[in-house]
Amino acid sequence: MTLRTRRQKLKDYFKKYLPSPLRYLYWLVKVLRVKIILWIPRYNEDTIITAHYPYFLEDEKFQRAYESAKYLELGKPIHWRLHTLCWAASKCESLDGAFVECGVARGLCSKMILEYTNTKKSYFLLDKWDGLEKYVGRYVDFAEIEETFSQYPNVNLIKGTIPETLKYVKTDKIAFIHMDLNSAEPEMAAINYFWDKLVPNAIIVLDDYGHPGFEEQRYAWDRFALDKNVKILCLPTGQGLIIKS
Ligand SMILES: C[S@@+](CC[C@H](N)C(=O)[O-])C[C@H]1O[C@@H](n2cnc3c(N)ncnc32)[C@H](O)[C@@H]1O
Repeated sequence: MTLRTRRQKLKDYFKKYLPSPLRYLYWLVKVLRVKIILWIPRYNEDTIITAHYPYFLEDEKFQRAYESAKYLELGKPIHWRLHTLCWAASKCESLDGAFVECGVARGLCSKMILEYTNTKKSYFLLDKWDGLEKYVGRYVDFAEIEETFSQYPNVNLIKGTIPETLKYVKTDKIAFIHMDLNSAEPEMAAINYFWDKLVPNAIIVLDDYGHPGFEEQRYAWDRFALDKNVKILCLPTGQGLIIKS
């Protein structure tokens, strides 16, 4: 068989058994489209890329709260973490007890929760507030923090180093804690101090639980959870969530 006839045979074969280029293209789009739609990233922020829908971004209450708090961001946006916090704080709104945040910085998370929940509960905010240059890139005066929270009569700013300041959280009942100190030791001191004050179904959100580079905190929280016989929900945001039963 000559080379020419062999080529012709191949051409005939393709003509006979393969669909026309247009039909082939149509088939390709039809099959792949389903997969492409499933895999298109719908959220890409804060080291999370996912095809899952961030429906909370469509919530007008969430949008309004974020608009009023976003100027307090320390770096890039963290919408999904804020969504976790708003959800958890809202759940705890019906419980008896105060709200607490350990590690406040400029106050993004607390302001977001205050705006989203419109809570009138006592809200204790604890931080060293010793400059914050590391996070903000400039000196932050405590007066700025006072100004941010001056419109909320239920907020108590407790300035100083944890654990020394824990005794100034004057409440016997706590419904919600956001723990964001980026350090295992003060976080453990705080949770050991607050644990018995947490009411049933109170929620603790751990900001750094699953974040790479914060393993020391995760080990400490895992040991704590084991000791208290509670389970930590590990979220794709890097947060951990505990419900006290
Ligand atoms: C990541 S920032 C908190 C971010 C904050 N949750 C927000 O909404 O932007 C961590 C904060 O923890 C504070 N901090 C760390 N160790 C502390 C300690 N032992 N006592 C009090 N504050 C501490 C730092 O001053 C810093 O403002």
